[in-house]
Amino acid sequence: MPDVTVVRRLRFNAAHRVHNPALSDEENRELFGKCNNPHGHGHNYELEVCVTGPVDPRTGYVIDLGIVRDVAGRLVVDAMDHKHLNHDVPFLRGVNPTTENIVVAIWNLLAPRIAPGRLARLRLWETENNYVEYEGR
Ligand code: NI
Repeated sequence: MPDVTVVRRLRFNAAHRVHNPALSDEENRELFGKCNNPHGHGHNYELEVCVTGPVDPRTGYVIDLGIVRDVAGRLVVDAMDHKHLNHDVPFLRGVNPTTENIVVAIWNLLAPRIAPGRLARLRLWETENNYVEYEGR
């Protein structure tokens, strides 16, 4: 069977402060500028969950995208929507919530729970112009 990639897009809104606690306040300000504002700032995030696998001859699907919606909705959106990522999200505890670090944490949460097919890529949009991609390597 041909391998096909299917994609589900999810959205959540969250606050964060880019801050590395291993560095001084001055170093953080210098590195991260306004992203280091003490009380944080918000983003309208978009997450694209890409699942690759063979097309099931019975259903014609790689995976029912409703499963992806439900799993990622429960694990990611319910945990992160309208939260402060530095304080409120258990799987980000101790993580400097850059888009890069967030996408890796989401991967580790989702990858074992996506089936059939396999999680092939995550794309996380932080702004209209900036996104990161991760393929688990
Ligand atoms: Ni930001």
